[in-house]
Amino acid sequence: MAIPFQELMKNIWMQILINDIYRGKLIRGIDHVLIYAKEGKFRLSHINEDYIEEYIRSIIPEHEGYLYELEVYAEKHHIPIIEREVAQMLKVLLKIIRPKRILEVGTAIGYSALIMASSTDGDCNITTIERRKDMVVLAQENIDKTEYRDRINIIQGEAEEILPTLTGKFDFIFFDAAKGQYLEFFNLCIGLLAKRGIIMSDNVLFKGMVASDDLVIRRKKTIVKRLRKYLKYINNLEGYESCIIPIGDGVALTYKKE
Ligand SMILES: C[S@@+](CC[C@H](N)C(=O)[O-])C[C@H]1O[C@@H](n2cnc3c(N)ncnc32)[C@H](O)[C@@H]1O
Repeated sequence: MAIPFQELMKNIWMQILINDIYRGKLIRGIDHVLIYAKEGKFRLSHINEDYIEEYIRSIIPEHEGYLYELEVYAEKHHIPIIEREVAQMLKVLLKIIRPKRILEVGTAIGYSALIMASSTDGDCNITTIERRKDMVVLAQENIDKTEYRDRINIIQGEAEEILPTLTGKFDFIFFDAAKGQYLEFFNLCIGLLAKRGIIMSDNVLFKGMVASDDLVIRRKKTIVKRLRKYLKYINNLEGYESCIIPIGDGVALTYKKE
């Protein structure tokens, strides 16, 4: 079977996504990944069975307007944004918590920042950090088109350099940036997190690799090792309560006790 493997490998996210390819054939690819699949579909996450994921996605209402446009843009340009079920979880969580200050690490095109802004009260402010100048420009353009422009502040730079400069407390912190740096981000954010505040970390199961050595791609070994260390750390940290939720690419919630 002719698979345009070089094409697929150009995109780093595709490298991770391509675990189950179609028609039940086995293909040995770059990094000696054994890739196989079934019935013409990518298996998206390795977190849940396909039918569970498909069912959940089928009942989530489609976004309209700018959120839908951002989803289309992200897909077309291979920009990773939060999955729809994770967006839905964020919405519900934020409606329960009703935070006044949110911090996000990893803005990309501003999709999740807009999801958060649209799920919170008018006096909730969002600070979001992004290292890439091109992304910051795009995110700013996208945010400026919405009614949330005054509530979202993008800071350009490396999170590990920006975080120590921030002041005050945040009620909700969302990690969606370099997965291998989550422990570093966490330690830099501990002092910024309000009591009873929550840190939500996305992609913690990393296409299932974190839970099973069989799925680990060689060049992702370090990230997987670091994510395992991170999850162990937050699950055993005194003064905090954590859980791991197997939706999307795996989400961890960490609650700071009083
Ligand atoms: C998965 S994308 C964020 C998607 C976004 N949260 C959304 O769902 O719309 C991750 C982003 O984090 C940024 N990033 C990665 N490591 C970073 C770091 N150390 N500091 C700042 N930004 C970082 C990347 O440039 C990328 O745009």
